[in-house]
Amino acid sequence: MDRAAPLPDPELTAVLSGIDIVLSEPQDNLSENILSRCQALKMVAQRAVGYDNVDLDYCNRSGILLSNTPGVLDNATADLAFSLLLCAARRIVEADRYVRAGLWHGFESDLLLGREISGKTLGIVGLGRIGEAMARRAWGFGLKIIYCRSDHKNSGTTEFELDEKDRRLAQSLGARRVSMEDLLRESDFISLHCPLKKETTNLIGAAELALMKNGCILVNTARGKVVEEKALVEAVTKGKIIAALDVFAQEPTVPPPLLNSPNTVLAPHIGSATDETRFAMAELAVNAVLQVLQGGLPANLVNPQIFESTVNKL
Ligand code: DGY
Repeated sequence: MDRAAPLPDPELTAVLSGIDIVLSEPQDNLSENILSRCQALKMVAQRAVGYDNVDLDYCNRSGILLSNTPGVLDNATADLAFSLLLCAARRIVEADRYVRAGLWHGFESDLLLGREISGKTLGIVGLGRIGEAMARRAWGFGLKIIYCRSDHKNSGTTEFELDEKDRRLAQSLGARRVSMEDLLRESDFISLHCPLKKETTNLIGAAELALMKNGCILVNTARGKVVEEKALVEAVTKGKIIAALDVFAQEPTVPPPLLNSPNTVLAPHIGSATDETRFAMAELAVNAVLQVLQGGLPANLVNPQIFESTVNKL
């Protein structure tokens, strides 16, 4: 089976028919439409931390356990996010193309001038495990760090109380929690680290892009649909922002204006793609299955509330 491309729905349904447990990945569209035709299915072991491709509500209603792979990909994903930031700021991809094209004729004091990282402000949207790993890297590079919680925009208020985690991050990394609006206005660079949910779909749209500083570098290693892609294309095309993207709204489709723009750095959803991390993710996914088969509750079960009623059906 070609695992590089999403399986069309009829093929996916055929593959899953009669199957009790499936090991899935982000490209598998496990919507209600598909899951409802897989009557034997009792567990989806998602080999990824994000599980927006799986209809969790349907799983809960229908007694399908869902596990994911949190914790093991934080460093790899933050490494890629920070690399994308550096690539965009220091024009590394452009520089590589320049040398390969034979255009380099010697040292020039104004050749491929980029932007300094240290001393600038990085805004992190969503400070979970991966966001925090990104913050640690930023601290090491001398950036000022501000962050907001991705659920804040929809809470209808700009007020929030700092909690224990906010205090810890302020103390260890000098990170300051701000409202989404302040983050958009103050950041030189913004990195997205929130899961894709109903509340975070199109979290960054035309209005948010308009608030960003001109030339802001927007890094997305989370999910493409966190950003309204049409608005993103427009902002990039107009030169309002520079986008460093590992994820897209309709993977593997990349809108041609993003492919053709000098204001983008692009990667094919490789945030967690190191040998070590992909192995650890597979191990975590398979261990969750083995544990469930032995009647145990895996720590990485997304819907532990249905465990008791489901486990004895396996
Ligand atoms: C994840 O884990 O959600 C990544 O996007 C894929 O590895």
